[in-house]
Amino acid sequence: MTDFQSVFGAAPDGVWAAPGRVNLIGEHTDYNDGFVLPVALPHTAKATVRRRDDDLLRLYSEQGDGRITELKADLEPAAVTGWASYPAAVVWALRQAGHPVGGLDVHIDSDVPGGAGLSSSAALECAVAAACDGLFGLGLGPAELALLAQRAENEFVGVPCGVMDQMASMCCAEGRALFLDTRDLSGRQVPLDLTGRGLRLLVVDTRVKHDLGDGAYAGLRAGCERAAALLDLPSLREVRPAALDGALVQLPAELRPLVRHVVTENARVEQAVALLDAGDLAGLGPILTAGHASLRDDFRVSCPETDLVVRAAVEAGALGARMTGGGFGGSVLVLVAEPELERIASVVRAAFAAAGHAEPRTFTAVPSAGARRLS
Ligand code: GLA
Repeated sequence: MTDFQSVFGAAPDGVWAAPGRVNLIGEHTDYNDGFVLPVALPHTAKATVRRRDDDLLRLYSEQGDGRITELKADLEPAAVTGWASYPAAVVWALRQAGHPVGGLDVHIDSDVPGGAGLSSSAALECAVAAACDGLFGLGLGPAELALLAQRAENEFVGVPCGVMDQMASMCCAEGRALFLDTRDLSGRQVPLDLTGRGLRLLVVDTRVKHDLGDGAYAGLRAGCERAAALLDLPSLREVRPAALDGALVQLPAELRPLVRHVVTENARVEQAVALLDAGDLAGLGPILTAGHASLRDDFRVSCPETDLVVRAAVEAGALGARMTGGGFGGSVLVLVAEPELERIASVVRAAFAAAGHAEPRTFTAVPSAGARRLS
């Protein structure tokens, strides 16, 4: 492994880390002002940084091509592509918001699997945002940094994502899930003692990434916004479950499944939180599986591989399973009783092999801490 000193020829000023996430429930709700319930992963992006005397931004990634990307102060979105666009975007967004962020050297090292629906980009953005905050004494809070990181991704990288991933990466806490109301960013940390209840969260990364993902995401978001406008509401969050049927009849047929997913998914988050508060963690299982069915049949963002993992795991005795993240591939979350972990993982791998798919990557998600300074 290369280190900061050998890349940039000087000692760093500090190291910040920010995690990837899995979302327990609450998918495609964040850009509808709805509820989400993410958990941070132990996997992080680390930003090792040093202030410069000039305005240059120099970026290097252990996972990159071995070259330093050097950018001038007047950052423009078109000037940078690939992984380097995320740290550049964050510096751009901070400067756009008037924060005094000068030049810096940044060394990135991330073990968050990329393109797996586990928020590797948000981890990268949040590590750099936290590093800039610390290095330049900006005094911004975690939610402000998350919003700036989201703005960076929306306006500089050009992905119209919601705020869940950045909030999860900045604000999650060890042993907790973050119950977040994305309408006003209020929320609370909900205890999630999986081990204490004899449970495990198995993550199955299908390694599938469909190219249509980004354009399709924007299309779904636009569909939700059109439905809210037709209902004369600021967002689909305002449709409560009891009012769902009345709302659906006012909408064209193609928008109804989108609205049904968002409204039922918000209700599933609230049910999940009530179960966690009552200590009934196993009770989450059927909610996860119902959430997957809604994403598959109504929102239509699952794919054959994620459907296969869910089906195989549930048939093998998992308590519940669902795709997590934006969809069109990516990872599946499987809730299992601890003694069943290995057996269910093997059943899923065998089902994948039998269908002729490449072997999925599997690991256990341990609810971990949000962004932090390491040294
Ligand atoms: C992606 C986006 C999030 C969210 C999820 C779906 O991860 O970045 O903002 O919309 O998809 O829940």
